[in-house]
Order: sequence, then structure tokens, then C-alpha cells
Amino acid sequence: MANISIEGVGTFDVKDGLRLAQAIESCGVDIGHRCGGNARCTTCRVQFSDGEPATYTRAEYHKLKERNLLGEARLSCQIVTGPPMTVQPLMRVSEMGWSDPGPDLDSTVQPEAAWFNEVELADDAS
Ligand code: FES
Repeated sequence: MANISIEGVGTFDVKDGLRLAQAIESCGVDIGHRCGGNARCTTCRVQFSDGEPATYTRAEYHKLKERNLLGEARLSCQIVTGPPMTVQPLMRVSEMGWSDPGPDLDSTVQPEAAWFNEVELADDAS
């Protein structure tokens, strides 16, 4: 089991290896995932106050960079549960006026399931 704390909501035990966005949703939080978990929309963005992973998928890193969110937020569709994490979801259905969170997420990270550190990704042009 993995332990996640969601600020203002509570602390939960969730399955290891879940996509963080799905884990947050399973705790009753209406987090957005408008692109279906493909690192395109950034509506699954969260802020970490503890346990932020040091690695990114290539897709997450480049999307955060493109949207000037590097260092500000992470994409919870690109992170899997494991070590304890404390997060705050930043775009919730109830706050954004959406009718739904977006398409269901695949159980595996899309478009890739490989993680790299910032040094490895800094000069990556893809
Ligand atoms: S970037 Fe769209 S769901 Fe994560």
C-alpha cells in the first residue's frame, strides 16, 4: 500500500503503482484529467508539499516546460504511487465549472512509462 495525503481532504492508503491522478480520484477528489492522462492538458496538475518524485516522464517534463509550470506543479497522470506523498490538486471539476473530469485514464502511464531526472531531460529536444 501507498500513503497519500491530500491537503484539506485527508490521508489515505491506496494501492502501490496507481497513477497518482487515479489515486486522488479514488479518494473522492474530483481532480481534472481532461486529456485522459496523456500529459497534454495539465488539468491533473498538483502541488507537492512532501514526497515529490525527482524524476519525470519525458512527456510531463516537456509539457510543464511549455506551460511554464516547471517547479510550480506536477502532472499527476505521469506519476505513480509508492513512497508517501502530500499533494494539493490544483484544478478540480467543482471549481472549474466542468461537467466531468475528462476521459478515464488507462491503468498504465501514457504515452510512456519511463522516468528521467531533470539533468537527463534538460537538453532533450523531443
Ligand atoms: S495532463 Fe491531461 S490528464 Fe494529465
